[in-house]
Amino acid sequence: MDCKEIVVKELEVGYDERIIVKGMDLQLKPGGVTTLIGPNGCGKSTLLKAMTRILKCRGGWILLEGREIHEMPTKELAQKISILSQHQITPEDITVKDLVSYGRMPYQKWYQGESREDLEIVQWAMKAASVEGMAGRKVRSLSGGERQRAWIATALAQKPQFLFLDEPTTYLDIAHQMEIMQLVKDLKERLDIAIIMVLHDIEQAMEVSDQVVVMKDGKKVAAGAPLEVITEELIEQVYSVKSRIVRLPGRNCPTIIYESLTGKAPAGAGR
Ligand SMILES: Nc1ncnc2c1ncn2[C@@H]1O[C@H](COP(=O)(O)OP(=O)(O)O)[C@@H](O)[C@H]1O
Ligand SMILES: [Mg+2]
Repeated sequence: MDCKEIVVKELEVGYDERIIVKGMDLQLKPGGVTTLIGPNGCGKSTLLKAMTRILKCRGGWILLEGREIHEMPTKELAQKISILSQHQITPEDITVKDLVSYGRMPYQKWYQGESREDLEIVQWAMKAASVEGMAGRKVRSLSGGERQRAWIATALAQKPQFLFLDEPTTYLDIAHQMEIMQLVKDLKERLDIAIIMVLHDIEQAMEVSDQVVVMKDGKKVAAGAPLEVITEELIEQVYSVKSRIVRLPGRNCPTIIYESLTGKAPAGAGR
């Protein structure tokens, strides 16, 4: 086994009596982008929370470097994985630099302040997420896209091997969505880390991911290379929406045309 991977086996996760994620098997290798897609409420955030130990597992295993994550010391785990949750609450009055400095906490001892190395890594993380020019600004004063980048810088300052991003583009306009997608692509090329994210836009998922994992009702229905996994049949099976996947000249990735609001299938669908 490649020691720097996360292996999820027969995972079950839930709340109270209800099991949400069922029989999940996954393998996450460093250096690639894995995107989870699936309808609202199918368990994507629940799976991410289990893999980052925010939630306990009801069954199965999550192994990091061959060790069960629930048995790892919290500090050690926080030096290997970080998560940008779906709903972040930005502390009142905090500057970008101070927010990003929070990412260094897993490396600090209670009796020590920030070391020189911490400061250098904070600077590096701000640069990597293109927020170094706004280090002194209040996070609350930033636009949605800038704020999201500040949070990504905070997660990067943890120097994780695995970076989890839960819907990093939701609530952003198309220009800022593209900015975050470009950042994900850059991070993938420049850093040897695995990025695992949740997206709703299937075209964007196809463009930036090495692997897509498609979920429905808490189960994995497909996983693999985007061009092999995403088909018109799969979109209909998972979302009950008819579509046509076409290739437009000059574009690297396929374009998806969805059925009209009247339920009319796009011309040529289901040929
Ligand atoms: N804290 C919670 N307590 C109880 N049920 C929850 C909680 N969070 C999510 N759920 C339920 O678990 C299911 C999956 O939710 P979630 O993982 O957030 O879905 P997704 O991220 O795919 O939209 C939903 O039915 C949701 O209502
Ligand atoms: Mg979610």
